[in-house]
Amino acid sequence: MAEVTRVVACPLAQLPPGEVLRLDRAELRAPVSVFNVDGELYAIDDTCTHADESLSEGWVEDCAVECPRHASAFDLRTGQPSSPPAITPVRTHLVEVVDGDVVVEVGTPRPR
Ligand code: FES
Repeated sequence: MAEVTRVVACPLAQLPPGEVLRLDRAELRAPVSVFNVDGELYAIDDTCTHADESLSEGWVEDCAVECPRHASAFDLRTGQPSSPPAITPVRTHLVEVVDGDVVVEVGTPRPR
């Protein structure tokens, strides 16, 4: 069974629509990024599955983030890449707002 780590990312007010927050915390085995797309929150592993690139530096369009290095786009809802060179999905994580804070349950996939 996958390990689950619950992380308070930030107050929701610090992550307005169009913004992304990269979480690189000691308790996480890998960085996680949280995106606010038109008021909807998405959390995925930050590192592209093709090479060591931060997806938080990418461009978001139509609920997908495009890797800044080779332009594979990952669906923020499923983690699936839509085009090569990346072929492996990134992990998605459950994210919710609790008492005004953005909370990520790292290790629990986003429900489909
Ligand atoms: S590093 Fe992301 S697509 Fe190559």
